[in-house]
Amino acid sequence: MSQTDHALTTALAQAAATAGRAPSVHNTQPWRWRVLPDALELRVVRDRQLTATDPEGRLLVLSCGAALHHARVALAAEGWQAGVERIPDPDDADLLARLTGLTRVGTDPEAMHLVQCMRIRHTDRRPIGDEPITDSALTEITEAATAEGVRLQQLDRDQVLQLATAASQADTVGSEDPRLRAELAYWTSRADDVGLPAAVLPESPPQTTVPGRDFGRAGTLPVGPGHDQAAAYTLLYGDEDEPSTWLRAGEALSAGWLTATRLGVSVVPLSGVIEVPGTRAELRGVLAGMGHPYLVLRLGRADPTHAGPPHTPRLPVEQVVDTTAVRGT
Ligand SMILES: Cc1cc2nc3c(=O)[nH]c(=O)nc-3n(C[C@H](O)[C@H](O)[C@H](O)COP(=O)(O)O)c2cc1C
Repeated sequence: MSQTDHALTTALAQAAATAGRAPSVHNTQPWRWRVLPDALELRVVRDRQLTATDPEGRLLVLSCGAALHHARVALAAEGWQAGVERIPDPDDADLLARLTGLTRVGTDPEAMHLVQCMRIRHTDRRPIGDEPITDSALTEITEAATAEGVRLQQLDRDQVLQLATAASQADTVGSEDPRLRAELAYWTSRADDVGLPAAVLPESPPQTTVPGRDFGRAGTLPVGPGHDQAAAYTLLYGDEDEPSTWLRAGEALSAGWLTATRLGVSVVPLSGVIEVPGTRAELRGVLAGMGHPYLVLRLGRADPTHAGPPHTPRLPVEQVVDTTAVRGT
């Protein structure tokens, strides 16, 4: 194996490992990477799909899209440009993407910065302070997300009130359905490398106009006195409602969230309203039928005077990155 080949497979394995930091619904981390001599493949892990909450796999694929974007940025930061084939094999739906045609270009300083943001990005479910985010920050976040081929729209005051109603309806549906309750309990009571530890869940429901997800149990994260009056609620949406666009939506989520992190803006995804078919249809109404909603994002400034939640755990690299095809070469 030449030095260039070795440098490439090392960069591919490292990019896949770095992508493990991506956000995922309930921290399910439903991805597995395969390093090949000249490509990197991303597969969905069906064992970690939320079969009751997300039977169609919308949030599953979206989560994998976030990991795909993380890997693309990590490669760019190391000076590799990759072509991306999304859902390349119609007979193999679980193969979500292949990064291929890798060529050496100069390291990308913006990508290097975003890789640093991957290390600090996290979900902070506390209420936010009174200072709204600036228009220029919202524009930058929107541009980063929309560059990935889906759209992001800020909701106006009336639409936020519609969202608030839909979010509490979605919570009610979740709390009344034993299958949904059991699934949530499973992912919030694990003591291993997946799921949500108590330290990242609010100790009491924050006093917000739009309710955050009711996780069905109190955590240990102090919420403080904030509200969400200064929040910008945005909706990630697009023209189609199928795996290829869910993947793009995940890439957009990662792009927008990493940019937000760089700008000191906190992001909380709200997917309850997307999971429940009735409230998803209501959100479609909010968009006046202009597209299909993928995810709601709350943007705001976190309380700078108190430490936020810790990072959620991640699966060991060996469990998510398969290097057998390049081992010993
Ligand atoms: C598709 C998707 C949906 C999510 N939905 C919610 C949600 O409804 N409520 C919430 O508090 N967090 C939500 N999250 C955040 C995840 O719980 C979080 O990313 C995961 O636990 C990993 O933690 P981290 O973001 O701090 O690394 C969602 C994340 C993704 C990618």
